[in-house]
Amino acid sequence: MVDIRPILERELDAFIDLMDVAYLQDSTKERRDHYRTINELDRSFGAFDGGQLVGTISAYSFDLTVPGERTVPMGGTTVVAVRPTHRRRGILRGMIDIHLDDVRRRAEPLAGLWASEATIYGRFGFGCAIDFVTFEIRSDATTITGPIDDRVQVRMVDKVEFAEAAQRFYDSIRLFRPGELTRTPAWWKARRLAQASFGDSGMSSYRYALAERDKQLVGYLHYRTKEVVRDGVPRGEVHVAELLGLDADVELAFWRFLFAIDLTTAVRAPFRSMDDPLLHRLDNRRAVKTSVSDGVYLRFMDVTKALEGRTYSVPGTLKIEVTDHPDLRGTYRLEVKGDGTARCTQADGAADVSLDSQTLAACYLGGCRVCAMARAGRVAGSAASIRLADLMFDNQYLPIAREIF
Ligand SMILES: CC(C)(COP(=O)(O)OP(=O)(O)OC[C@H]1O[C@@H](n2cnc3c(N)ncnc32)[C@H](O)[C@@H]1OP(=O)(O)O)[C@@H](O)C(=O)NCCC(=O)NCCS
Repeated sequence: MVDIRPILERELDAFIDLMDVAYLQDSTKERRDHYRTINELDRSFGAFDGGQLVGTISAYSFDLTVPGERTVPMGGTTVVAVRPTHRRRGILRGMIDIHLDDVRRRAEPLAGLWASEATIYGRFGFGCAIDFVTFEIRSDATTITGPIDDRVQVRMVDKVEFAEAAQRFYDSIRLFRPGELTRTPAWWKARRLAQASFGDSGMSSYRYALAERDKQLVGYLHYRTKEVVRDGVPRGEVHVAELLGLDADVELAFWRFLFAIDLTTAVRAPFRSMDDPLLHRLDNRRAVKTSVSDGVYLRFMDVTKALEGRTYSVPGTLKIEVTDHPDLRGTYRLEVKGDGTARCTQADGAADVSLDSQTLAACYLGGCRVCAMARAGRVAGSAASIRLADLMFDNQYLPIAREIF
């Protein structure tokens, strides 16, 4: 009989060790220390078989940026793991039930996660809302076209200066793009600024840079390099950890800086988006390979609060039927005013559009268009209602999956 309960502080090392077994890693003191600083003990549950820990789940308390420069509280589901001796006995299902009850109790309208395998979480109501996009650029085969604001200055800095500036800058722009998440100082320390020593063979330490315009901080960049020599020819690589600017000029100034690093011929940048201006400013579009995969999954916990949480691109009234999951199923009336803000209530009668909760999650942040989902057979309704829904949910930015949590 497996018992699922909150873990105790003294069980945290065993918790981390089990997570590392499941994720095919070795526990090290460094990994444990990093994880301890960001773990939320009161959101961490263990599955116990007798005295043995056989399953783990936890959550981070995030605010997720949604369209309209607003945020919605989100339980960030994490460290889901089951001991290999206990797999496929329903332990994950039991832990997810308890975890989602906890998210609901905390009145967070959304849960969200990164999936180790894309086939696991749909059954629990999670749908992919943000794509994970990676750029692989042959920086020796392309240049950036057109002017870049020459007031933008890129300056390499040390980690101390970077840490303060990057946190300040991230907080100042966090509301602009859907998908951004709150980052606590502990998060910055353990996740963004940690000099990870695992799985990084051949990489340099992190390098740090800031961008300034008229003495104002307008962006930050951190990256590593890897020395590669083939047939006596230098073919080094640049690996971007994060490149973030106030506008396209700032980011283009960073890209130009990276492309020009001597002895390198390639830049690899994960966590980008398909509406990145860079893609439209290269003289050789074929020099950048974009790979798109599933990134952040969302699960509605409270449809009315989540739908009211964002703003919409056009006004109108739409009755939306959600067809699955007992806690979500029903019809919701979404009334969007001229300023884009919305009121959402439970409703009766025939709906204008009908879709499952995974499809609603896919469209919620504007990552996937309602009309595309309708063509895929995942939204039912009249052509006019689908068009209205498509325009309402559309947003000027694609959402971004900035890091795995
Ligand atoms: C993925 C993992 C947590 C599943 O745990 P588990 O206890 O074996 O899962 P359960 O027995 O509760 O399975 C629940 C359901 O999910 C399905 N499922 C479980 N693992 C799955 C997988 N890897 N792929 C697809 N479906 C999966 C089961 O078939 C079952 O489906 P059903 O109830 O609809 O029949 C476990 O295999 C594990 O720790 N894997 C390594 C670490 C990992 O990938 N963690 C997830 C991080 S996001």
